[in-house]
Amino acid sequence: MSMVLVTGGAGFIGANFVHYLRRERPEWTVINLDLLTYAGNPENLAALEGDPGHILTPGDIADRDLVASLFSRHPITKVVHFAAETHVDRSIMDPGVFVRTNVLGTYTLLEAARHAWQGVQGEEPRFLHISTDEVYGSLGPQDPPFTEKTPYAPNSPYAASKAGADFLVRSYFHTYQFPTLITNCSNNYGPFQFPEKLIPFVISQALEGKPVPIYGAGTNIRDWIFVEDHCRAVLLVLEKGRPGETYNLGGRQEKPNLELVRLLLRLLMEMRPDLGNLEELITFVPDRPGHDWRYALSIDKIEGELGWRPQVDLEEGLKRTLSWYLSHPEWLERVRSGAYRDYLQQQYGAAVV
Ligand code: NAD
Ligand code: TYD
Repeated sequence: MSMVLVTGGAGFIGANFVHYLRRERPEWTVINLDLLTYAGNPENLAALEGDPGHILTPGDIADRDLVASLFSRHPITKVVHFAAETHVDRSIMDPGVFVRTNVLGTYTLLEAARHAWQGVQGEEPRFLHISTDEVYGSLGPQDPPFTEKTPYAPNSPYAASKAGADFLVRSYFHTYQFPTLITNCSNNYGPFQFPEKLIPFVISQALEGKPVPIYGAGTNIRDWIFVEDHCRAVLLVLEKGRPGETYNLGGRQEKPNLELVRLLLRLLMEMRPDLGNLEELITFVPDRPGHDWRYALSIDKIEGELGWRPQVDLEEGLKRTLSWYLSHPEWLERVRSGAYRDYLQQQYGAAVV
């Protein structure tokens, strides 16, 4: 019987992970601490209503008293820390909240767990911090993929705030022998992803017959991983990873953005021929400032040590993602209303909204 604190479990990856954990480890109790920002959606957890093994606790990871009280009230022995501000474009508009949540919030959690776990008997505690490939910076066309030894070179305020958090986590292992683990993952996609990120944004724009904006020439390359593969790796690292270590997680599926968007639109047209020729919606817009050119990750370490590799290929994952969005129009409708409209206006201007 374990009690695990999941932070950010009402967001995209966190909610997928909470569902995965309830299926895979039904004997564990999940305390889900989430501030329910614009990106956190209790609807993502609706299927768990009435489940005594899942306790949704609205609140801020940077709230010291709240976090300390969670540790004193519950025998938490594991932390899986997803909560963060996550969108690069928003970090360019307003970096402050990224520093507060990603750096200060991570520090607050580390401190609460460190004090709570001092001299603890019984089950070995573990603190798994979820990070990103973006901390490593940007690759050129011929560069080998990032490894766990690649020096950090974050380029956006988002990436810098995640790097700051990673360094704090690392320092707690070396200084206090605090049982940390870090995963750095590539671009995720799948159900429940907020439609400001490329793949769900393209889907929601295409469903409304609106322009699909491509930054620059669409030649930037990302490595894509289906969220379920990520969740499987997170649980594996939580249980079997070596404390103090970092594990890179990727999909081994690099694609230039334009190619990815064309593939996604083709699959959508196959499922919904009534939508017409969606390729016509592709619109080139000014590039993101400081836009990283390419991310790619070596996953040799986790493959060799823990036997993990991604199982869902890109086309299969995109089909599953499309099916989910097509069968949840009301989810998309509710998410796209309200303040999100203002964000789109600010980011893309009237032409795209
Ligand atoms: P998301 O933006 O969908 O969700 C973030 C969640 O954190 C939301 O539920 C939000 O309400 C919550 N949150 C924000 N500030 C909070 C605070 N101060 N206190 C408590 N909760 C707060 O993000 P995501 O895409 O699910 O990413 C989850 C984690 O995975 C992040 O740490 C991110 O850096 C990392 N990551 C994401 C990707 C990706 O492609 N999405 C890739 C690699 C790593
Ligand atoms: P995004 O989903 O924001 O993830 P990240 O910036 O963390 O990799 O963007 C993925 C890629 O798609 C990135 O190279 C930027 C690009 N992009 C567009 O071309 N148009 C868009 O409207 C968005 C949101 C992203």
